[in-house]
Amino acid sequence: MSLQERIDQTIRNVPDFPKPGIQFKDITPILEDPKLSEEVVAAFAQFWKGKVDAIAGVESRGFLFGFPLAMQLNVPFILIRKKGKLPYQTVSYKYDLEYGSAEIEMHVGAVKDGMNVLIHDDLLATGGTAGAAAELIKKEGGKVAGFSFLVELEFLKGADKLSSYSDVVQRIVS
Ligand code: PRP
Ligand code: MG
Repeated sequence: MSLQERIDQTIRNVPDFPKPGIQFKDITPILEDPKLSEEVVAAFAQFWKGKVDAIAGVESRGFLFGFPLAMQLNVPFILIRKKGKLPYQTVSYKYDLEYGSAEIEMHVGAVKDGMNVLIHDDLLATGGTAGAAAELIKKEGGKVAGFSFLVELEFLKGADKLSSYSDVVQRIVS
């Protein structure tokens, strides 16, 4: 069985979470399998090796594979967090959700001028979060090297929203 198939079979589809009608992609069973988790990180690493200066992971599930990936590639890991969580000086970006808005932040100085940054998250849905992360990287003088996701919900066409930042979008399962 391919890695894609094994990941797909391991992810737990939870109906009606967090709201009726939504099917939640629960990746926690992957984390319970260290061998499979290692293969996930290796698949990301193979794709991005030598192509990025840093990895920015999006809270919270973007931290799970993002940080081991950064260690594997021997590049800095940058935290993008929900508003109010980072202790030092921050730069922030506010974006629209279906209902209301959200705001994400990053530490000032984490992105060095001209740095080629990979934006990583577990899941690409509407692309709102990853697009906002790209705005933060640009705001701080970095370049968006591309995006990587474990899972893409293809029917939401999130990749379309990211095309203005980079056309390199890696997704292991879609
Ligand atoms: C989920 C997921 C992505 C984002 C994708 O995170 O982990 O970060 O939503 O959605 P989008 O493409 O429509 O923006 P969530 O906000 O549920 O938080 P968590 O990672 O902290 O669980
Ligand atoms: Mg998330």
